[in-house]
Amino acid sequence: MSPFAHVTGWGMAVPERILTNEDLAKIVDTNDEWIVSRTGISRRHIAEANETTATLATRAAAQALARTRLVPGDLDLVIVSTSSPEHIFPATACLVQDALGAVRAGAFDLSAACTGFIFALNMAAQAIRTGAIRNALVIGAETLSRLINWEDRTTCVLFGDGAGAFVLEASDRPGGVLSCVMRSDGSGASLLAVPAGGSRIPTTIETVERKLHTIQMNGREVFRFATRVMASATREVAASAGLRLEDIDLIIPHQANLRIIESAARGLRLPMDKFMINIADYGNTSTASIPIAACEAVAEGRIRPGDHLIMVGFGAGLTWGSLALQWVAPERRPTPARRRRHLIMAALARVRSVFRRLWRHIEGLLWGAHERGEK
Ligand code: ACO
Repeated sequence: MSPFAHVTGWGMAVPERILTNEDLAKIVDTNDEWIVSRTGISRRHIAEANETTATLATRAAAQALARTRLVPGDLDLVIVSTSSPEHIFPATACLVQDALGAVRAGAFDLSAACTGFIFALNMAAQAIRTGAIRNALVIGAETLSRLINWEDRTTCVLFGDGAGAFVLEASDRPGGVLSCVMRSDGSGASLLAVPAGGSRIPTTIETVERKLHTIQMNGREVFRFATRVMASATREVAASAGLRLEDIDLIIPHQANLRIIESAARGLRLPMDKFMINIADYGNTSTASIPIAACEAVAEGRIRPGDHLIMVGFGAGLTWGSLALQWVAPERRPTPARRRRHLIMAALARVRSVFRRLWRHIEGLLWGAHERGEK
C-alpha cells in the first residue's frame, strides 16, 4: 500500500517591523477606514534591509523541523514556493537548503504566486505517496515589499512579508494530504504581474524609470476571478476527498481580501467561523499566507488531531487551487533540548557552507595549477 503524506511540523516567521494603515496614510493618499472596509487589513510586517525571502524561509523551516524528530540532514526534498525569490537563479530553495544543512535534499523553487504553497504541498505529497521520497520540507516565503510601487495606493496597501513552512513525512497511518485541485488560466496573465526583469522585458534604465519591476494589478478583475473560483475549488476538493462540506472542520483560505473570503463563505453557505482569518495583522503575504494562517490556527487550538481541513487559494498566473488534508499531528512544542540541538546544527550548517566555499576555491587554484602544468 502506498504511504500517506502527513504534516508533522509547522513553523512561521515574519519581520518584526510593522507598517500600519496610519503609517501608509503618510506615504500615499489613503486612510485606515478605506483599507479596513475594502480589504480587512489593519497592518502588515515589512522586511528590514537584512531580511530576505531566504532568511524568513529558513527561520520558518527551522521552527517546523524542530517540531519533528527529523534533523536537516534527513530531508529528501526542499521546495520553496515564492514570487519574490532572492535571484532569478539560483533557486531560493538552494540557499535555504545550504543554510539549514539539508545535505541530502534536492531543492527547487516553485512559482505559482499565491496558490504556490498548495501546488508545492501537493507535489511533495505526491512524491511521498509514490514512495520516491520519505519526507519533504515545503515553504511559502515572500518579501513582496521589495516589488511594491510605494506610490501606488491601489497595491501598496495590500501586501506584507512573511514565511510559513510544513514538514511532510511518510506514514502507514491513513490521513494527511487527501486530494488536491490545481488549475491555471494564462489568458489572465496580464491581470497581475511584475512585467519587467525577465526575458520578455529585460532590465533597462527605462524599465526602472517606468516602475515595470513592481507589482501591476487590475484589482477589480482579480477580485471578480477570485470570488468565482474560491467556492468552486473548495467544493471540488471536498468531493474528490470523499468529504461533505459539513465534514470540514476548518477552511484556511488565502488571505488576500476579507471580502473575497466572505463571498466564498456565502457561496458555500458556510458560517464565517469555519474560516481561519488573520488578514488584519499580516495583509496579503501571497504564498506564505496559508501556512502562516495554519500555524496560527494550531496555536489558537482551532486545529486538532483528526480534523479535516481545506486550504484554498488563488493568484497571479492566473492560478487557483485547493487541498484537503486530515491533520493528525498532536501539538508538539519544540523542547529546550531539541531547540538547542537545532541551534547547534544551524551553526554547523554555516561552518559547513563556509568550508565548502573555501574548499571549492582551493580546488580551483589546484586545478588551475594542474592545467598550467599540462600546457
Ligand atoms: N485608498 C483610498 N482609495 C483607494 C485606494 C486606497 N488605498 N485604492 C483605490 N482607491 C480608490 C480608487 O481609486 C477608486 O476611486 P475612483 O472610484 O475615484 O476611481 C475607489 O477607491 C474604488 O476602487 P476599486 O478598485 O473599485 O476598489 P475595490 O473595492 O475593488 O477594492 C481592491 C480594490 C482592494 C484592490 C480589490 O479590488 C481587491 O482586493 N482585488 C483583489 C486583489 C488581490 O486579491 N490581489 C492579490 C492576488 S494574490 C497574488 O497573486 C499576489
